[in-house]
Amino acid sequence: MESAHTLYIGLLGLGTVGRGVVRSLESNRRQIESRTGSSIKVLGALVRHVEKPRNLDTSAFTVTDDPQTILVDPRIDVVVEVMGGMEPAKSYIRQALLSRKHVVTANKELLARHGDELGELADRQGVRLLFEASVAGGIPVVRMVQQYLTANRITSIRGILNGTCNYILTKMEEDGLSFADALQNAQRLGYAEADPQSDVEGYDSSYKLAILANMAFPIKSPVSAVQRQGITRISEQDIRTAQSKGCVIRLIGEAAYDGLQVNLQVGPRLLPREDALAGVRDVFNAVTLTADVVGDLTFIGRGAGELPTASAVIEDLMEVLRTPSPYWNAPLRSFGASEANDKGVKRDPGAAYFDNMVAPAWLRS
Ligand SMILES: NC(=O)c1ccc[n+]([C@@H]2O[C@H](COP(=O)([O-])OP(=O)(O)OC[C@H]3O[C@@H](n4cnc5c(N)ncnc54)[C@H](OP(=O)(O)O)[C@@H]3O)[C@@H](O)[C@H]2O)c1
Repeated sequence: MESAHTLYIGLLGLGTVGRGVVRSLESNRRQIESRTGSSIKVLGALVRHVEKPRNLDTSAFTVTDDPQTILVDPRIDVVVEVMGGMEPAKSYIRQALLSRKHVVTANKELLARHGDELGELADRQGVRLLFEASVAGGIPVVRMVQQYLTANRITSIRGILNGTCNYILTKMEEDGLSFADALQNAQRLGYAEADPQSDVEGYDSSYKLAILANMAFPIKSPVSAVQRQGITRISEQDIRTAQSKGCVIRLIGEAAYDGLQVNLQVGPRLLPREDALAGVRDVFNAVTLTADVVGDLTFIGRGAGELPTASAVIEDLMEVLRTPSPYWNAPLRSFGASEANDKGVKRDPGAAYFDNMVAPAWLRS
């Protein structure tokens, strides 16, 4: 059946996520067409190395190392940025928005640092800027905060936002491995980068927490306001001590809003086994949102990987099809709220939860 409408996309990047997007658009083509009455067609993909073998059928689109092939093509409706890094990704996204192309991105650091500027530009240009894949991979938590809790006041966000750290902590707990050995395992399985610092030092979780906090709360939450601690100092003894107290250790990102200030923290926390996040193992992510009308909502799922991340990107493309109006960028505007929160971040009453736990001093914030 011929679709009434085709959405043309250009990919910036054809690595793990870009490949997953191409594969999933093909494998779920009928589902997409029957649900939306539209089809989605990839016209081109930007890469660094055109000749690199990709284990992917690229015969239906252009693979290029020239960004302008994608950015100036008037047929392309949506630019999907899945190349990562700050530059040239930011300049390419700006150029796409200035050309009135919608942008879908998975780039958490870029969003956390420049989401305000890019969101405002998208608004001015009358296009969408969507970034479901930037937080917690396949878990649709961005859309949940942006669109499904708009009549609620969200008071806190608490989650396991980095699958690599969760895998390492799970292996230390279940297999008695040292931090170094668990990290090596994660690298061997492709869960951790060759340079794992962004994951294990908590930067990656901080970016994701800042993105969620900027959408959920009416106060600007810059990454610099996140009190951050990684998991590199966790020893086998700490894990055993936690176990003896009926607890597990998880790297938790938490943002709480008391009506005046936002308190943002990322760090290892002792969780009692009955905590909703304590049973989250391996590379899984989980997020609990607390809001005044609905109460607690917890989402658990795969926080990274080719297909879960592609799922988030493709759901953003569905959203462009459903609602091309920038009206729904609105929650992004708190990225640009004038009241900065990067000085004198005070602890809020919610933090007492952690103070009351038995833990080495460094495990408390
Ligand atoms: N992987 C995940 O599970 C995951 C999950 C959530 C979010 N993300 C985010 O998604 C983005 C992509 O991640 P990924 O894992 O797919 O990365 P990746 O596998 O390293 O792929 C990056 C792609 O971008 C291309 N590229 C990079 N820099 C370029 C440049 N300057 N010019 C042209 N092409 C360039 C690369 O080309 P070559 O192939 O020629 O090298 C490659 O195709 C990142 O922002 C990441 O943080 C990833």
